[in-house]
Amino acid sequence: MAQQPECKVEGNYIVVPKGLVNVIVDETKVSGVDPKGEATIYRGYTIEDIGEHATFYEAAHLILYGQLPCDDELKEIKRKIDAYRGQVPEKLFDALKLLPPTHPMYYGIFGASFLGQYYAPEWKFDPDFLYDHALRLIAQLPVIFAAGWHLAHNGTFYRPDPSKDHAWDVLRMIVGREPSDIEARAFESTLVLYMDHGFNASTFTVRVIGSTLSDLYSAVAGGIAALKGPLHGGANEKAMEMLLEARRIAEEKGVPLEEYIEEYIKEKLARKEKIMGFGHRIYKIHDPRTDVAAKYVAKLKDGEFWLKVLKKAEEVMWKEKKIPSNIDLYTGVLYYQLGIPIPMYTPIFAMGRVVGWSAHYIEQVLNNKLIRPTEKYTGPVGLKYQPIEVRCKR
Ligand SMILES: CC(C)(COP(=O)(O)OP(=O)(O)OC[C@H]1O[C@@H](n2cnc3c(N)ncnc32)[C@H](O)[C@@H]1OP(=O)(O)O)[C@@H](O)C(=O)NCCC(=O)NCCS
Repeated sequence: MAQQPECKVEGNYIVVPKGLVNVIVDETKVSGVDPKGEATIYRGYTIEDIGEHATFYEAAHLILYGQLPCDDELKEIKRKIDAYRGQVPEKLFDALKLLPPTHPMYYGIFGASFLGQYYAPEWKFDPDFLYDHALRLIAQLPVIFAAGWHLAHNGTFYRPDPSKDHAWDVLRMIVGREPSDIEARAFESTLVLYMDHGFNASTFTVRVIGSTLSDLYSAVAGGIAALKGPLHGGANEKAMEMLLEARRIAEEKGVPLEEYIEEYIKEKLARKEKIMGFGHRIYKIHDPRTDVAAKYVAKLKDGEFWLKVLKKAEEVMWKEKKIPSNIDLYTGVLYYQLGIPIPMYTPIFAMGRVVGWSAHYIEQVLNNKLIRPTEKYTGPVGLKYQPIEVRCKR
């Protein structure tokens, strides 16, 4: 068993482990992973329960306001999200047309920042105002990602249809066709599973930015930037790219992928490479979100085949490294089954996580303390400035 990292007290300071491993930095009522790393709770409910049963609107209401909605509340949150989805400023679409084809996470960072320039100059810390802007951002961020992607690749984009259900409409704008009910529900379920996850790196980033009393749009732009990295949200793309590479090699060798995956993983491990879609800072035994995602993978195109491959990969990784899979392995496959372009996988993570980011931002700013740790300086001291001709004399 690996040794647990420990905190040390040095005078008035607490020295915490690198990467803040096992450090609790604050309390939250939004969501949490239990200390054994086995269950994730959304405002009292397990993530499996909400991921399997709740609609996007219900889960967003739960995460933002603390309880599942009753009739009027459900109508209201749906009315607002759907209406805001149709109100992305036309100038933002014009601005997106100027951007080059790049990773679409940049469109989100750009779009959140653009919206902030519209709405944030008169920023207020009044709860009604904050919740209203959270709903606007939750509704509009997916439109921005999808439009940015299609404008860059096809020169045109799919406009939102506020008369349609949020998840269905967002999936339609991404894939450019009307999804079936099961496709829309599978997609919706992943948005719910991604919605929140304690103090992960991007949420912590959002809280740090919020703690300076910056606006929600700026904080979410920072959250998207943090999520973009391959050790966080970017893993769903990398996991699917890895599976496709394995499938290509398996085809060349004339071996079924569900057999070849073992050799592929072992070779990668021997080269000390990480297997994307495996491992987690908190879940050391099992990521419960994979169970819900697996049920939907089974119902989509080639579901049986992909599940066989994933189960085999899990078996190998557990035998070799005692490392479990994480949600990104499953959503990677699920988005592939839906025909979504791989670079859009991490933006979809952001389309769900923006709900959690908003809830954490509001929780932070309404009970604020500037987050500002200190450091242990280990560089040189006592140097004196010298003019360039003196300091660079050979
Ligand atoms: C998520 C992740 C960053 C967790 O990191 P962490 O808690 O800091 O754990 P570490 O990266 O320090 O890993 C601990 C050990 O397990 C190994 N390990 C962790 N994840 C691994 C993976 N996916 N493949 C192979 N080995 C892995 C590390 O190499 C390390 O081994 P060592 O002690 O021999 O050096 C890490 O598991 C990872 O990089 N996974 C792949 C990316 C991914 O899927 N991210 C999505 C997370 S939801």
